[in-house]
Amino acid sequence: MAKKDLNAKAPASERRVSAQPRLHQRAAEIQKFGTVSHMLPLDLEEPVRLEMTEQLNLMLADTITLRDLYKKSHWQVAGPTFYQLHLLFDKHYEEQSEIVDTIAERIQLLGGISIAMAADVAETTRIERPPKGREEVPVQISRLLDAHQIIVGNCRKLADRSDKLGDAGTNDLVVSDVLRTNELQIWFLSEHLVDAPLVVADQTRLRDAS
Ligand SMILES: [Fe+2]
Repeated sequence: MAKKDLNAKAPASERRVSAQPRLHQRAAEIQKFGTVSHMLPLDLEEPVRLEMTEQLNLMLADTITLRDLYKKSHWQVAGPTFYQLHLLFDKHYEEQSEIVDTIAERIQLLGGISIAMAADVAETTRIERPPKGREEVPVQISRLLDAHQIIVGNCRKLADRSDKLGDAGTNDLVVSDVLRTNELQIWFLSEHLVDAPLVVADQTRLRDAS
């Protein structure tokens, strides 16, 4: 059985200074998930902050999932475009990581609690779970595009709603950071699914036109 730390229970005046770290500590939560602090000097009412943090947490769960889908794709990509996709997927991963931190910290500054752990993210995200195994490049890219589409659609709804509620900071984050980055990444990905000739031009279209 672990030794009891009698020093910790002693009154403050009787406590000895000790170099021993206080290990294995647990205590009740100081704030429940899904709540916001009552009063903050932000000039934003509690119900607004509650609604915004709920929506931002959904966006955070989706963005963490997309970020991780990029790393999975970075590691598992195969085929003649391996090198360029290996690099592109990692670039997008880094950009999504930045967004994850920006969303999470906005939830906290609004008085809420950011979702963080993988199991909680998996329960919350609206993005389809991929298999553990390796998939072909067109499937990898399609999955990434589907995930982006979910995030972009929710960005537009949240941009409208935050504008209506007067939460300009959330509106700016959703449009400037999340929406614009996702739109650009969608472009870079979707061009890889254009079935254009790689070496030999398609001359049949020339003959059809003449
Ligand atoms: Fe890597």
